[in-house]
Amino acid sequence: MKLSEEYVAQTYARYPLLLVRGKGTRVWDLEGKEYLDFVSGLAVCNLGHCHPKVVKAIQDQAEKLIHVSNFYYIEPQIQLATLLCKHSFADKVFFCNSGAEANEGAIKLARKYAKERRGEDRYEIITMEHSFHGRTLATLTATAQEKYHKGYAPLVPGFKYIPFNDVGALKKAIDSKTCAVMLEPIQGEGGVNCPSKGYLRALREICDEEGLLLILDEVQVGMGRTGKLFAYEHEGVEPDLLTLAKSLAGGVPIGALLIRDEVAESFEPGDHASTFGGNPLATAAGVAALTAILDEGMLENCQKVGEYFLSRLEEIKKKYPFVQQVRGRGLILGMELKMEGSSIVKEMMRKGFLINCTMGNVLRFLPPLIVTQEEVDQMLEALEEVFKGVS
Ligand SMILES: Cc1ncc(COP(=O)(O)O)c(C=O)c1O
Repeated sequence: MKLSEEYVAQTYARYPLLLVRGKGTRVWDLEGKEYLDFVSGLAVCNLGHCHPKVVKAIQDQAEKLIHVSNFYYIEPQIQLATLLCKHSFADKVFFCNSGAEANEGAIKLARKYAKERRGEDRYEIITMEHSFHGRTLATLTATAQEKYHKGYAPLVPGFKYIPFNDVGALKKAIDSKTCAVMLEPIQGEGGVNCPSKGYLRALREICDEEGLLLILDEVQVGMGRTGKLFAYEHEGVEPDLLTLAKSLAGGVPIGALLIRDEVAESFEPGDHASTFGGNPLATAAGVAALTAILDEGMLENCQKVGEYFLSRLEEIKKKYPFVQQVRGRGLILGMELKMEGSSIVKEMMRKGFLINCTMGNVLRFLPPLIVTQEEVDQMLEALEEVFKGVS
């Protein structure tokens, strides 16, 4: 930890914890202490840690071919793109290495598509307050939270912010420059904020009427986190562009931009690229991860345990007046407190449970999709012990 402070750039406020091993829902530190993981590497380890099929796919692929250029066809890349298209609205996939990069690709493609069809001045993208889209300069600008902008001006032109869940605000914000609307179907970093019923459908209808693209950022909520493979499926609407990353390859870095054919045509050879994007190792892991999510009942478990977990959180809320609200869907759940949550996270860690806090006061629970009701009970029992010390 001392060497980390000396040699690693100090961009993270880290907990004094060094994790060295993981299996399923559990991780272990250097001293062998076990933790039940309700963070999952921030919605990355949806299959649990070191899922055997992902480990095997990485091992097998590493022995065959780790990397080649996108000058050539890549077998597991083709397999993963095919699988993603078969199980979603999409016709084409562009691969990259992170969520920010996937969103960067979506922003570039939306601009290019709109400029080609409606003129050079169609470049503005409307995004939502409390959103989070990444840390590159364009995605940071798309992220409508001032705290992330500080120190980085001038930001990228061409973004406009409106409140989440406000259809009227979107109608007012659209003008002759607008090319797309971009949002997370559930805001993760912004505090686990869910769309009200019919909101996404209304957005889809407005986009269709106005000729705008609908971009969904499912970097955090995609790949089964909400109990369906993609969160948009709950609302019965389809986007034009959708971004994925985090859990797509079971823990190996990857990003993907899923695209409808008509929009994908605006990307021609040479328009966009990534050296590592769709690399054999990452996409082989992705094929194994996606197959495991679909074949091993993880979506069903996520729905069942998620409903139980939310009902237990609601019971707890009734007992402690400092709990403001509980919300979420599947296994992305939030508990908003009337006070800061960081001391609760630390106390839970001492007891052997990893949980997260976002926006300063929203406890966020993101366990692997294989978590059991018994494990949820164990964690909540510890949480209540901590809460009793507070009240
Ligand atoms: C919704 C959403 N979009 C984009 C990102 C950025 O992803 P990455 O950190 O892989 O660039 C995140 C990361 O937390 C996210 O939650």
